[in-house]
Amino acid sequence: MNDLLGRPLRNLRLSVTDRCNLRCEYCMPEDDYVWLPREDVLHFEETSALVDVFLALGVDKIRLTGGEPLLRRDLPQLVGMLRGIEQVEDIALTTNGVLLPRFAAALREAGLMRITVSLDTLDPQTFRTLSGGRGEVEQVLAGIAAAEAAGFERIKLNCVVMRGVNDAQVLDLVERFRGTGHIVRFIEYMDVGTLNHWSRDLVVPSAELLARIEARWPLRALEPNYRGEVAGRYALADGSGEIGIISSVSQPFCGDCSRARLSADGRMYTCLFASDGHDLRSALRGGASDDELAGIVDAVWSKRSDRYSEQRAGLRAHGDGRKVEMFSIGG
Ligand SMILES: C[S@@+](CC[C@H](N)C(=O)[O-])C[C@H]1O[C@@H](n2cnc3c(N)ncnc32)[C@H](O)[C@@H]1O
Ligand code: SF4
Repeated sequence: MNDLLGRPLRNLRLSVTDRCNLRCEYCMPEDDYVWLPREDVLHFEETSALVDVFLALGVDKIRLTGGEPLLRRDLPQLVGMLRGIEQVEDIALTTNGVLLPRFAAALREAGLMRITVSLDTLDPQTFRTLSGGRGEVEQVLAGIAAAEAAGFERIKLNCVVMRGVNDAQVLDLVERFRGTGHIVRFIEYMDVGTLNHWSRDLVVPSAELLARIEARWPLRALEPNYRGEVAGRYALADGSGEIGIISSVSQPFCGDCSRARLSADGRMYTCLFASDGHDLRSALRGGASDDELAGIVDAVWSKRSDRYSEQRAGLRAHGDGRKVEMFSIGG
């Protein structure tokens, strides 16, 4: 099943909650948020039923995200349900890490295969500022340690780089995690949503960042692990590790995007920068069969032509400015 630009549907990002225990400046700055009412959020059985539909249409990789997915009660139970489905080849989680000490072991036991932890700085004060005063870097480091202890390896550590905020600290992150097998990935600050007051001046282009890292640790470019991998991979030439660079603004990768996103209330989004999602929950709760649901998803995907990042300049100048928030649909 391909979209209008010939892109297959392979990956599904499942947002399990829109709530979060942090208030990262670039995602969910402090504000009065109105959360999804509980009855609007998909039950695990409903999520699992929709996942079945996506799997039948070609998806084989699932990532749980949010909001902060570890705020969703009994998340390991959902992991277990999804892991029990034969066609699921990969099931991963993106988390801010704060609650990992409590849940890492149960997630591993339930069958979670990979973890990505967001960590933008090692500096306690910068962390506090960036997370809206709601978290401490030590909590995230404890979370990473708990994930290691539970048996997770090659943990990906996502760092959103903002000029003048944390860009002076990227080398510290490389230093801290080289030799551990974990992979620090630097992400260009994106204009997702409408609340973060994005400005291009705050983006540190990957080329500039790579040059800074290279000046300290010579790098060797690596082949992608698979077609459509969003991070450019680089090995530290001294053999001590690997880093990733996600150039979402300076070198958009829409051409290979095979991701669909499902919000916690069951809306399907075909782009991180979409303004509207397609409501699958109503059809599901209305008693639609698997075939009928598959028909809806197929119709949405087949009409897809989104490539926001490649058209950013024009769309920012002439679009209507509406965009879904990142915490509603995950990263
Ligand atoms: C929306 S969060 C959801 C999962 C979890 N709460 C976390 O922070 O890992 C997923 C990812 O999106 C990234 N993200 C959020 N806003 C971003 C932005 N404006 N530009 C680039 N990445 C962003 C976060 O850093 C995180 O790695
Ligand atoms: S990036 Fe993750 S941790 Fe930060 S506010 Fe957004 S959802 Fe919460």
